[in-house]
Amino acid sequence: MTEKTTDDASTVLLVGASGAVGRHLGLQLAAAGVRVRALTRHPDRARQRGFVQGDLRDPRSLRAAAHGADAAFLSWPFATAEGAERAVAALAGEVGRVVFLSSAAVRDAPGAGPHSPGRPHGGIEALLADSGVRHTALRPYGFAGDALRWAEEIRAGGPVRGYGGAAGLNPVDERDVAAVAVRALTEDGHDGARHVLTGPESPTQAEQVRIIGEAAGRAVRWEEVPRGAARRRMLTAGWPPAVADGALDSVHARIAAPEPVTDTVQDVTGHPARSFRAWAADHAALFR
Ligand SMILES: NC(=O)c1ccc[n+]([C@@H]2O[C@H](COP(=O)([O-])OP(=O)(O)OC[C@H]3O[C@@H](n4cnc5c(N)ncnc54)[C@H](OP(=O)(O)O)[C@@H]3O)[C@@H](O)[C@H]2O)c1
Repeated sequence: MTEKTTDDASTVLLVGASGAVGRHLGLQLAAAGVRVRALTRHPDRARQRGFVQGDLRDPRSLRAAAHGADAAFLSWPFATAEGAERAVAALAGEVGRVVFLSSAAVRDAPGAGPHSPGRPHGGIEALLADSGVRHTALRPYGFAGDALRWAEEIRAGGPVRGYGGAAGLNPVDERDVAAVAVRALTEDGHDGARHVLTGPESPTQAEQVRIIGEAAGRAVRWEEVPRGAARRRMLTAGWPPAVADGALDSVHARIAAPEPVTDTVQDVTGHPARSFRAWAADHAALFR
């Protein structure tokens, strides 16, 4: 990446600065010489250096936070796209470029409009395209950090109980998603791109649990839960039935056809995507 001096440093408004990707992105942008304005809803935090107060639900605050920035990183931590039209308009009116943390779940689904329940990402990509602002969508598959959902069972000695141990998933390290975002925010050549981001392989869920066990120094095994029992457990935990069924269908499909792997992290950043084994080694202490 080109070294920037303080004088020609660009400024990025970072939405979701404490999120799974945002917390790495802030550090990586600062290391690249970019000024970071981290958006937060919390007045106490907003008084700290590097932060600015604002709320995605309040376009006026968003506009004020973005004013004078060159680019914005947009994360949308809500289940629907309600309110996105005004938020996108606020950003598009202030900055020259937006990089959006979308999702591989978009899959260019027909009818994925701004109000599709549970599927906000496609709608927001469409809003960005309609706004005319230069923009890039990052479409990651599941984050490697999602494996922390197993931490409690692994710390307790296992087994990890779940449906679809044979499903092949391609977790992408959040640090790699952030590295792609840095490039899209600071380099030309990414306008209109939809970067589909994955790890370098698709280990099954049971293999992922074994890999974490090896990193943490303890033998952990996967214990398969039948689909019906897994569904009951999800409904008890508050999942809407349609969302639970969709998630179970998706896991089931990945037993026959593991999630695909892309070279996008390597192509965009010049370094290979981190493996799940590397992620597990770096986070082993959380599973002990
Ligand atoms: N997990 C996965 O496997 C996965 C895979 C693909 C895509 N994604 C997508 O990644 C996105 C979220 O990623 P994440 O986990 O990094 O974020 P997250 O943890 O869900 O969101 C937390 C961040 O959002 C900010 N935030 C929350 N409400 C806000 C509001 N009303 N206004 C302004 N900021 C607000 C918070 O800032 P403050 O608290 O400081 O205000 C915080 O920095 C989602 O769209 C998700 O669908 C996730």
